[in-house]
Amino acid sequence: MPGFDKSQALYQRARKVIPGGIPGHQTPGLMRRGESPCFIEKAEGCRFWDVDGNTYIDYMCAYGPMILGYNHPKVEEAVQKQRLKGNCFNLPSPLLVELAEYLVALVPSADWTVFGKNGSDVTNYACQVARAHTGKKKIIMAEGAYHGIGAWCNPNTTGITEEDRVNVLTFPYNDPQALQNVVKANKDDVAGLILSPFRHDAFHDQEMPTESFLQGLRALCNPEGPVLIIDDVRAGFRLDLRGSAAYFNLHPQLNCFSKALGNGYPISACLGNKALMPSARKVYFTGSFFMSGVPMAAALATLREMAETKAVEHMFRMGEELKQGLIEQADSLKLEIHYTGPVTLPFMTFANDPAFDKAKTFCARAAQEGVFFHPSHNWFLSAAHGEEEIKQTLRATQQAFEEVKEQFA
Ligand SMILES: Cc1ncc(COP(=O)(O)O)c(C=O)c1O
Repeated sequence: MPGFDKSQALYQRARKVIPGGIPGHQTPGLMRRGESPCFIEKAEGCRFWDVDGNTYIDYMCAYGPMILGYNHPKVEEAVQKQRLKGNCFNLPSPLLVELAEYLVALVPSADWTVFGKNGSDVTNYACQVARAHTGKKKIIMAEGAYHGIGAWCNPNTTGITEEDRVNVLTFPYNDPQALQNVVKANKDDVAGLILSPFRHDAFHDQEMPTESFLQGLRALCNPEGPVLIIDDVRAGFRLDLRGSAAYFNLHPQLNCFSKALGNGYPISACLGNKALMPSARKVYFTGSFFMSGVPMAAALATLREMAETKAVEHMFRMGEELKQGLIEQADSLKLEIHYTGPVTLPFMTFANDPAFDKAKTFCARAAQEGVFFHPSHNWFLSAAHGEEEIKQTLRATQQAFEEVKEQFA
């Protein structure tokens, strides 16, 4: 059994000087107490080492940003080249233009782009552009969806006023009729509809869009209707290198990316079509670090390497092997699981497990065997996960399933 003494000691120190110790989604509070690491020392490829010296094959990939592998040589080379020149200047580096041109050529529905640091920067911005373009106020989102920490959508309402939410409307995901009803009822005031490319809310099985929902979206979001914003912050570049909208044959007016764009370097992008360019120009969007050159160098190197190595296809192959292996193991032990979402961002839950106790047992045992999963959030594959790692993973998950069977028989 791996020890977590150093992790635990650091966490206790953190709790004294940082509210919550490790705030936000990286909190160890979602894992089984004391049975998973809290701090990472270093990472390489698809593996990381915690501060106690335990090693793991990683299926969280920094919650998405790591897509080519930690410390990827091509990305790090590009990063180092720019770092030696400098990162943060009075004016942008030429990489701003190079990256913008690359992205606009890559993403089918895009004619322009702006850059931020985090996903929330660009989802907030996209809503403002939709309002500036339509002159309307309301933004529609799916119930329970996550679009960042903006006051309009933060799932935790502490410190947020009712007034922050008055212009946000919701509907149940994959229900085209309910969506149409919301639009109709607010006909004169709907600026935009923001949606992730599939349903990937934490604590829920994932849900792919149905064909009738996609058809409804295509019909609704025409140039006269609400602005369609695809929030591809989490899924971006794991379904299709051109963005998940292309995978689903959607033509959104706005696309938001972040996470995997820079293989771990902080960068986000909102891409839009020509019709929205005049409004985009009017929205004031800036940040002290938005123009930093190093993350832009990382993003260019990441996208080029993904294209050259057909990384998305590789992730689908590895993801399918993992899925088949896990389903076979669960079946052979007569454990009912739900394996949902694309195989490159899968999520596995156990039937009759509302508090994720079985999932926590599974994850804790997998961690003991050197594989890191999350019990209540979707997982991520990367291009660095190869055949050998999938085999090693499946040896670990066999033990993990057996432990669940034993404890919950
Ligand atoms: C779909 C989606 N949108 C927006 C965000 C917010 O991104 P960030 O945490 O970088 O602000 C996230 C983060 O998990 C996300 O998954």
